[in-house]
Amino acid sequence: MTIDTSKIEKQVRIFHDSDSTGHDTAHIFRVLDTAKKIAFHYPCCDIDLVICAALLHDIADHKLIKEDEKTSVLEKMRHWIKNAGADDSFAEKVLFICQNISFSSRKTNAPLPLEGQIVQDADRIDAIGAIGIARAFAYGGAKGRCIYSKGSTDDTVSHFYDKLLKIKDLINTPEGKELAQNRHDFMLSFLDELYRECDV
Ligand code: ADP
Ligand code: NI
Repeated sequence: MTIDTSKIEKQVRIFHDSDSTGHDTAHIFRVLDTAKKIAFHYPCCDIDLVICAALLHDIADHKLIKEDEKTSVLEKMRHWIKNAGADDSFAEKVLFICQNISFSSRKTNAPLPLEGQIVQDADRIDAIGAIGIARAFAYGGAKGRCIYSKGSTDDTVSHFYDKLLKIKDLINTPEGKELAQNRHDFMLSFLDELYRECDV
């Protein structure tokens, strides 16, 4: 089975191009790049599955589509995957990964296959470090949240404590953990500096 992932790439670019909440096309391609780097250490994994899941992981995200659109969006994704040359069982695997990568929207407790764990790591890694900081403030801005207000639980700095600083302990693979540690340390330095500048 040969899969022409460039066909899927084309659809993904169209879908994500207008996003300004941190889920833009560049996010998808960074996740793809990181997922490939991690997958390189696992010759046993299905690289086409990693690539397709990375490309499609945010298409059916509840932040980007309405709940009542979900079924038709999943069918559209299935069509793209099969149109790229994949069979039904491969398409099913991609859809399973895409629907179960995010903890908040998990449909089942069934474990993610290795390929899904790799894409999940890559997606989480893109939420931390310098790019993660930029995305958090972009997302906060898009939602009308303020940057920082001392003592507030509603500003974007709170999101670091709610989620971003917890990410490094949720990474599945040792290769992902190593990438996450540097980014985690950078976020701690960023917060130190932010408090030095703001809490006067
Ligand atoms: P993804 O869809 O890529 O798995 P999320 O949808 O959880 O990740 O978040 C996308 C980006 O938006 C991430 O960089 C995340 O940190 C940021 N984000 C999500 N929720 C918030 C929030 N409440 N405040 C600030 N940033 C947020
Ligand atoms: Ni994502």
